[in-house]
Amino acid sequence: MSIIVDSVIQNYHITRKIGEGGMGEVYLAEEVLLGRQVAIKSLNPNLTSDSQFSERFVNEARIQAKLIHPNIVALYNFFIEDGIYYMVMEYAGGITLKDLIAKNGPIPEKRTKQIFNQVINALSYAHSKKIIHRDIKPSNIMIDETDNVKVMDFGIARIMSDKHLTRTGAKLGTLYYMSPEQVRADKNIDHLTDIYSTGIVLYEMLTGKLPYKTDTDSDFYVMKEILEDATPDPRDFYPHISEDMVSLVGRMTQKDKNDRIEIHNINNTGDIRSDDNKDIPHPHAIIKNQKSIPPEKIAYVNSVPLQRLEHELQKASNIGDDELVDLLMNRLDSKQEEEDQDQDQDSADLLLAASEGVIEKVKSLLDSGERVDSVDPDGLTALMFAAEKGHADCVRLLIDRGANINLVSSNGWTALDMAITNHHDEVAAILRKYGAENGNGQNGKFGFVKSAFIVIIVFDIFTLFVIFSMIRCSSG
Ligand SMILES: Nc1ncnc2c1ncn2[C@@H]1O[C@H](COP(=O)(O)OP(=O)(O)O)[C@@H](O)[C@H]1O
Ligand SMILES: [Mg+2]
Repeated sequence: MSIIVDSVIQNYHITRKIGEGGMGEVYLAEEVLLGRQVAIKSLNPNLTSDSQFSERFVNEARIQAKLIHPNIVALYNFFIEDGIYYMVMEYAGGITLKDLIAKNGPIPEKRTKQIFNQVINALSYAHSKKIIHRDIKPSNIMIDETDNVKVMDFGIARIMSDKHLTRTGAKLGTLYYMSPEQVRADKNIDHLTDIYSTGIVLYEMLTGKLPYKTDTDSDFYVMKEILEDATPDPRDFYPHISEDMVSLVGRMTQKDKNDRIEIHNINNTGDIRSDDNKDIPHPHAIIKNQKSIPPEKIAYVNSVPLQRLEHELQKASNIGDDELVDLLMNRLDSKQEEEDQDQDQDSADLLLAASEGVIEKVKSLLDSGERVDSVDPDGLTALMFAAEKGHADCVRLLIDRGANINLVSSNGWTALDMAITNHHDEVAAILRKYGAENGNGQNGKFGFVKSAFIVIIVFDIFTLFVIFSMIRCSSG
């Protein structure tokens, strides 16, 4: 999918592409009536095929739209067109902090503080509204020519973190700014995750580098470092950094979120407030987390894409790592459960779509591999539901896609019974044409009783007629 430059989408005239990220593309556009510049972000449609996504998207977008702050890129509008999700945002001029660091290397401490303070202001405000960013990183921080900062993409990470995203193995973006709790995929991610990520950004501004060995392609090693390795002293890379800033980086990037500095204890000069009396460990003094199962193993196992699980399991057993084998086995079990649940959900969707005669939905579910003869707990199939409601097109489609025409539900109904009972003659005729039969269920029994009844009546009338004729003959 691609937005076309110079086209008009809804009320927005697309000017040019300005960026691309893990979730989609970003375009500069002009809002036609108001003449103002906006940034439009389209969200990758193959991430959005899940039916609940739209509800979540709308809910989250409504919350984001309430964030109005000079250091936050405002969300102006959002809409869904042709199945593609669009967010219309304030256009932030300037360059991203990522590009600034790439261009200039370390940013002098004074300037770093000016940028950092504005990020903290944005976060304080959002956190006071109970909104967590979840994806603080230099490419989400825009800096204009007078060093005004705008933080972009509040909460988008949350919108996008649905299970279809993780299932396809697509990554939200870079791992490097993720907090240990995000790496572990903890359930209760809170505002302290933003403190950690901002601490890493602060480190990078001061040194021009990340505190990890970034020359590896392996997510595993990066995760291991995030979970285990103390944040190095920034002065190892760049000497001109004050003790205060070094301490601040250390306090923000504590592995255990309970040891992390709270945002209200960071004052707007980037220093730590004097009322924060906790002992401040130097980054080097952070003690490694000792647990029976190394957390990086857990994180690694959680990060393996589902389709690679069996492969990784094979590898782990080849090298004889029993702990890893156990963890992978557990994940494989839950994968099976997840797939079963998904299967249930998909077949429920198919039955519902057939019952409502939404032929496009039936088609798309079948195309995506849903079995045509899936049954509900009463053994009812999509064909039976379509027949019951008299959706002739849907019945034809299901037969065409190989539906078994004479399946019988647990109380003995076939699709033909359903059509007859509900007086859908056209559907009954189609079914008969393909060799449909009655079941031995209620309608079948009723059919039998009805036929027997008719035979008896016909026989009675015939007998009466014969007797009547005989009487007439004998009297005549
Ligand atoms: N509101 C905006 N105003 C100006 N530029 C933006 C805006 N949103 C995104 N961009 C640009 O588009 C790029 C891609 O953004 P995005 O899709 O959010 O990916 P990421 O955040 O991973 O870089 C950003 O790096 C930035 O250069
Ligand atoms: Mg972004």
